[in-house]
Amino acid sequence: KGGKILILPGDHIGPEVVTEALKILDIIEEATGAKFERDFDLCGGASLDKHKDSVTEAVLKKSEEADAVFFGSAGGPEWGHSQPNPESGLLRIRKRLQVFANLRPCNFASKALIHRSPIKPEIITGVDFTIIRENCGGAYYGEKTEEKDYGCDPWEYSRPEIERVARVAGALAMQRDPPLPVWSVDKANVLASPRVWRRITHEVFGKEFPEVEIRDQLADSLAMLLITKPTAFNGLIVTDNTFGDILSDESGGLTGSLGLLPSASLAGAPAAEGGDSPVLGRNNAGGVVGLYEPVHGSAPDISGKGLANPVAQVLSLAMMLRYSFNMHREAEVVERAIAKVLDSKDDGGLEVRTGDLGGTAGTREMSEAIQGEVRRL
Ligand code: NAI
Ligand code: MG
Repeated sequence: KGGKILILPGDHIGPEVVTEALKILDIIEEATGAKFERDFDLCGGASLDKHKDSVTEAVLKKSEEADAVFFGSAGGPEWGHSQPNPESGLLRIRKRLQVFANLRPCNFASKALIHRSPIKPEIITGVDFTIIRENCGGAYYGEKTEEKDYGCDPWEYSRPEIERVARVAGALAMQRDPPLPVWSVDKANVLASPRVWRRITHEVFGKEFPEVEIRDQLADSLAMLLITKPTAFNGLIVTDNTFGDILSDESGGLTGSLGLLPSASLAGAPAAEGGDSPVLGRNNAGGVVGLYEPVHGSAPDISGKGLANPVAQVLSLAMMLRYSFNMHREAEVVERAIAKVLDSKDDGGLEVRTGDLGGTAGTREMSEAIQGEVRRL
């Protein structure tokens, strides 16, 4: 068990929260005998300072050789006018690894989260869905035209790009018994590439995942329903790059706490616990190649003060254990430990919460509370 991780802490709070997340990895190594080889390198502003580039070819090569990339966050005002910008380093790694499926879970397993949400508790309680955003194609890529009075971004998708992301959704749905329902989100009523998206997605599910219930949903109406009836979408939401960008930020807003949101970008369909190795995007550890990072940025306003909430980074670690190293049980232990810490006050224990959650704890204190729970579980 174990494997090779490339660790790119990045800038500002990136290194602060990555350091804490790796302490959880230490505990898991001790408890399970798994061995993780850790290679640290630079990306973002830190790389610009040293190499005058947001990521070097050497780091891109290392990312290809690793079983997983564990990323902090990149950027900050001091690189405001840099060419290239610090965030471009991350985009180049995503592209090089072809981590085309971006997963953002949105769940309210902890009571603390329900109370933090800007949505009424009776609406948000029980929400548990994951958005799977196609992340390597569509309107964000392709040949752009920009003239003084004319602009054009071709919104293109072809069969292999749609099939591979549909397979990730299908494989993830099949990891539950009964299988999770899947919503395929598009604007097939007015746009051409979303019509092809819808047709091919149905083909893939019909042939390869006949047990999975697949339903179509228009992107605009989903945007409304995620606020008014979010529990109706418990399961998986698979969508293209543009809709996925907007809807995943909206789902982040439901939680009201940036410091709690993890993400995974995968290069293939992950295996179920005890299941066969993935075919596409398989790494040497028998999992899938992936890049794991919190949704939040480098938070320069609180960096260097020990105030950042490490939870999003630690939850990203849990996703890495699950998808890149097939350590499903350990991932669950970490997630449960975090829910316990977040709910500590509600359960009559100590309150350990960082400032973004209305508490007074620092990064270290929060991390130590999580470590304690992981050790106990
Ligand atoms: P941000 O996510 O860094 O911060 C937004 C607000 O949330 C700030 O008030 C910050 O203090 C707070 N916050 C964020 N993470 C937190 C945490 N873990 N604990 C407690 N509070 C937290 O977004 P912002 O300010 O727009 O961007 C700052 C820099 O980060 C910019 O250079 C931006 O380009 C970069 N960025 C990088 C990303 C990445 O590396 N993937 C993603 C988003 C932004
Ligand atoms: Mg966005």
